Amino acid sequence: MSKKIKKIGVMTSGGDAPGMNAAIRSVVRTCAFHEIECVGIYRGYEGMIEGDFKILNARSVNHIINKGGTFLKSARSKEFRTKEGRQKACLQIKSVGIDALVLIGGDGTFTGGMIFNNEFNFPIIGIPGTIDNDIFGTNFTLGYDTALNTVVEAIDKIRDTASSHKRLFFVEVMGRDVGHIALNAGVGAGAEEILIPEEDLGLDRLLESLRRSKDSGKSSSLVVVAEGDKIGKNVFELKDYVEQNLPDYEVRVSVLGHMQRGGSPSCFDRVLASRMGVKAVESLLEGKSNYMVGILDNKIELTPLEKAIKGKSKIDLELLRVSDIMTT
Ligand code: F6P
Repeated sequence: MSKKIKKIGVMTSGGDAPGMNAAIRSVVRTCAFHEIECVGIYRGYEGMIEGDFKILNARSVNHIINKGGTFLKSARSKEFRTKEGRQKACLQIKSVGIDALVLIGGDGTFTGGMIFNNEFNFPIIGIPGTIDNDIFGTNFTLGYDTALNTVVEAIDKIRDTASSHKRLFFVEVMGRDVGHIALNAGVGAGAEEILIPEEDLGLDRLLESLRRSKDSGKSSSLVVVAEGDKIGKNVFELKDYVEQNLPDYEVRVSVLGHMQRGGSPSCFDRVLASRMGVKAVESLLEGKSNYMVGILDNKIELTPLEKAIKGKSKIDLELLRVSDIMTT
């Protein structure tokens, strides 16, 4: 018989993502609804080791659903990778009577949580919070939809100046080693080419495609490049390479960077966060552990954390084909 859960700890870890605050809010309010206590753990595993905690109630999370980032802060903790560090963390959460944990983050967060659970038997449930959308077991991670809209808006602005000056722009987007942001935002922004790690376009095909664009009368072009792309040249080297091989192109580069992680979460991410927070808390109260909450075909489902960590999110081949056709 699993121990009755009376106090749940919640934390955010890894790269922040829009919607994390909405998820924290949902966890706290679901605890309040079930009349159990909730403890905010600041700065992820680093704060857990240091005992950086604060009791949270339904009022503590007023007016945060629309705020980007995470008010519990986030950090990457080297010490938590050591048994001694995890031992300290265990003593800290036991000292305040935390019985279970909701971990909001990416695969690195879940891996640490799994090890912690195996060593100290703390029930844990994960909520996938990362703009990369690279976690198996969910169609959408928290922050991905907001990041897509941020990127499309930025590319629309770049297109204004690209067409005014008849220039080619290479726009680098985030996504770590997957191409979901690049592919979806690229199609959404009408990019002429999209370079993603999952499909090696190759330099020759890139030049050929750009030549074709020019010949078809396109006076400006946008190439969206996933930061993990494997074409073998970074966006600045691609600029030089294209200028050398296609002299009639004037080329510029724009690296969008960390602005993709900010901004007020979209309605989709706020609703997703609210649904995931409820599922996470109620799964713990039902005695479940070592699962990640995800959305699959618009249903909130649980995936064993082990599978979520080991699995790989796949690129949508149908969308890849759409993207090829749209660049005609
Ligand atoms: O995982 C989210 C993410 O934004 C990736 O897309 C990016 O590669 C990475 O984090 C950047 O990490 P940091 O914020 O530590 O520079």
